[in-house]
Amino acid sequence: MKSLVSLYSSSIGKKIVMGLTGLFLCLFLVEHLAGNLLLFANDNGHLYEEYSRILVSNPIIRAIEIILFLSLAGHALSGVVLWIQNRRARPQKYKEFRLDENTELASRITMLGGSIVFLFLVVHLSSFFFPLRITGTPMTAYELVREKFSNPWFGLFYLVALVILGYHLKHGFQSAFQTFGLVNKRYKALLDAVAFFFWFLLPAGFGSIPVYFFFFVKNTASPLVLRTLEHGWPV
Ligand code: HEM
Repeated sequence: MKSLVSLYSSSIGKKIVMGLTGLFLCLFLVEHLAGNLLLFANDNGHLYEEYSRILVSNPIIRAIEIILFLSLAGHALSGVVLWIQNRRARPQKYKEFRLDENTELASRITMLGGSIVFLFLVVHLSSFFFPLRITGTPMTAYELVREKFSNPWFGLFYLVALVILGYHLKHGFQSAFQTFGLVNKRYKALLDAVAFFFWFLLPAGFGSIPVYFFFFVKNTASPLVLRTLEHGWPV
């Protein structure tokens, strides 16, 4: 126990925690995207409701959810502590800003990206998770998604956040590969393909959802989308 605490207090210990929790969060994102792609089933949310019902009623999934939230907290907290420690340890500020060499700027951007993703998560959880699971809503999960994405500003916020998520994942993968000593010529193509899936295909997959709902699914319950359809732009 003592050696685990002293490992965590070192820089590499926190990097290992960030890498492991980050990889777990990535696995969650794959499952989350696969589930959310059921929104495209064109069955008025039938399949998606079934999927949501299974998620809520399965005790194993509820337990995994607790690990998920702990991982999120551990990842964010380790990132902030590591960033503060690195800043304190650095004696002098860099004079030139070069993203490829200047680790201070790179880490500042990674920190900023991570903070925006965190902010996105706060908005996301309060829009979906809280009403569906905690506070309660008369809407089904599908109806809530349809209602939220009928607002183009909400959809646009998602698209911007997803670009930032992609950037964060790209840098996250690079540093995780380094932490775990996976920067290896032999596996480079495979690692690049895995990283590409996470930083490009996964955010693009999530991004297709607000676009689909705004342009192709009519939300009869929302006056905003009706006004938007009428005027051609949100008013
Ligand atoms: C446009 C794409 C997305 C849609 C439509 C969507 C939809 C949802 C819905 C409906 C829930 C509540 C599920 C329930 O509790 O019954 C949820 C939960 C959650 N979402 Fe998303 N989500 C999207 C993208 C994302 C992204 C990009 C992330 C992370 C960066 C994310 C992270 C989470 C987390 C952590 C939860 C809480 C855990 C859970 O309920 O499984 N989601 N999402």
